[in-house]
Amino acid sequence: MTSTGLIRDFTDEEARRALVLKWGTQDPDVLPAWVAEMDYALAPPVAEALQRAAAQGITGYPAHSSGGPLGAALAGFAARHFDWPVDPEQVLATVDVTAGVRIALEALSDHGPMVLPTPAYHPQFGIAGLSGRETWELPLDPDAGQATLDLDRLDDLFSRGARTLLLTQPHNPLGHVYTRAELEAIRDVVVRHGARVISDEVHAPLVLPGASHVPYLALEGTADHAVTVTAASKAFNTPGLRCAQLVTADPAARDRLLAEPMCRNNSWSPLGEVAAVAAYTEGDEWLASLVERLDRQRGLLTSQLRQQLPLARMRPLEATYLAWLDLRGYGHDDPATLALDKGRLHVEAGDRYQPGLTGHVRVNIATSPERLVEIVRRLAVTVDA
Ligand SMILES: Cc1ncc(COP(=O)(O)O)c(C=O)c1O
Repeated sequence: MTSTGLIRDFTDEEARRALVLKWGTQDPDVLPAWVAEMDYALAPPVAEALQRAAAQGITGYPAHSSGGPLGAALAGFAARHFDWPVDPEQVLATVDVTAGVRIALEALSDHGPMVLPTPAYHPQFGIAGLSGRETWELPLDPDAGQATLDLDRLDDLFSRGARTLLLTQPHNPLGHVYTRAELEAIRDVVVRHGARVISDEVHAPLVLPGASHVPYLALEGTADHAVTVTAASKAFNTPGLRCAQLVTADPAARDRLLAEPMCRNNSWSPLGEVAAVAAYTEGDEWLASLVERLDRQRGLLTSQLRQQLPLARMRPLEATYLAWLDLRGYGHDDPATLALDKGRLHVEAGDRYQPGLTGHVRVNIATSPERLVEIVRRLAVTVDA
């Protein structure tokens, strides 16, 4: 077992018990590097807050309102980390990020197609269809250094009737952190068409050294057309606790979200709220250690790839712990299946994020250095056979 600062690695046994999906569903000889969960113990302030809440019996319905301790906690975090002034009263809890995107779309957007830059986090492909909207893909170059949006194509999609852009920034699976200039250029196209933006910023706390996160709503001229969906759950490893946040900067939009009927079944967990408040208010030191660890993992991955998989191409990982690898140099269409069958390594196939794309995998590097070396070794022995 290793540790960096405040980060404690789970042993295999602990990981199998704690991470019931990522580890618990796998055969014992499979090394899991797939779903976006980290092989690290909870941040102590979050664990302690949850223990206190359980002891106090905070297990009833959460309060149905905006603001409150969660709004204040997120506003403090946004100010400290992103220099983003958030009005606590404009923060609403919701069950998770994916549901938050759907609710923002259904409550705030016109009934037109939604633009989805691809590759994309795979559940995002199904969100618009739930309300009878079409999803119009905007392909990014899965291998380009910048992974920036093609503004002419975006303009064209809006001209042809699209009404909403789902922006994921930082981007999963490409690991790209959009710059202020990129975001301003996107905003200008959106404003020209009177369209809306839903900005999924769940990976924002996981921006690695070398890049910095610019919240879309921190740009001028976005308050009346954008909503941000975020959560502490990726950075603090608490996705099972069910509490994300919708952030608006326009009271009318907030009121429309608040007016969503109870039968939408959008309720979140009070323990998720406790965890999010603890993460946002007491988690900075642990988060700094995490980012430091992930930065080292990124360096280790680069050097391991160079040594063991020289034909692999890795997109610059500017944020997240999800590395996007192009393995086409090894001539296999489906390296993920090969890795599972032959190497007993579970990574995600690239075509989950961009249907039809061959030869790419997404690898979760939020684990110990020893396991990361083993991940690359298993990948190498299977694809380089
Ligand atoms: C971009 C993005 N959005 C949303 C999610 C999922 O969040 P939730 O489980 O809160 O729906 C993920 C999970 O990895 C993600 O990468």
